[in-house]
Amino acid sequence: MNVIIVKNDTQIGQKTGDLILNKVKANKSAVLGLATGSSPISTYKYIIEKTKAENIDWSNIKTFNLDEYKGLEPTHEHSYRFFMNDNLFNHINIDKNNTYVPSGAIKSNQEAGEYDKEIEKAGGIDLQLLGIGTNGHIGFNEPGTSFDSITSIVNLTDETIEMNSRFFANKSDVPTQAISMGLKSIMNAKEIVLIAMGKNKAEAIYHLVEGEVGTQWPCSILQNHSNVTIVVDEQAASLLKK
Ligand code: F6R
Repeated sequence: MNVIIVKNDTQIGQKTGDLILNKVKANKSAVLGLATGSSPISTYKYIIEKTKAENIDWSNIKTFNLDEYKGLEPTHEHSYRFFMNDNLFNHINIDKNNTYVPSGAIKSNQEAGEYDKEIEKAGGIDLQLLGIGTNGHIGFNEPGTSFDSITSIVNLTDETIEMNSRFFANKSDVPTQAISMGLKSIMNAKEIVLIAMGKNKAEAIYHLVEGEVGTQWPCSILQNHSNVTIVVDEQAASLLKK
């Protein structure tokens, strides 16, 4: 695992943005896995700036997002589809038909599993971007999730609902379920880049890099992948020993 420690959020955005843009430049029809939340915002901002400055072509790039809140319409301001349009897709020349976010209207795991088939049809994910929960979740794969999981309907833990309530008016407005790519779906990506900033991510980063591999810290599964880079600030890296 390649661990890159930088000073701040801006540097996380630059470093991660360059890793993603290098893929896009090298392969005009690359398939990217994308994340939402606060961690990737600086990365998306940097990508938008560079894309404009260097006229980078996204017209044949495909993207698959990790997750969506169950029950939220794509037009809902807290849906992850809305987030992606607002923070990235509306500002680059990507074809929205090539951007996939699980539908919040999915009602069964059978329907949810179709998402993995779409990814496979696209040739698999070349580079998967991830954030990480304070409890070590990646995607919305909460502690205890099977390492064999594929895209499915998942229950959010109280900790995750509490953390994500900062984006909503009230905690009671946060959906309690989501549709999330599974741990196996994530591990199928050819390359993975995970970003984290701040002290509250330090414990999860410790378990990801140096902890024992097990389902209690879902992030630890990444130790079994051969091409993982994590880009973190000093606070998120503060519990690493090696
Ligand atoms: C988002 C996702 C989540 C977040 C994680 C961290 O698509 O799958 O795993 O990456 O909850 O969220 P932030 O970045 O808001 O701290």
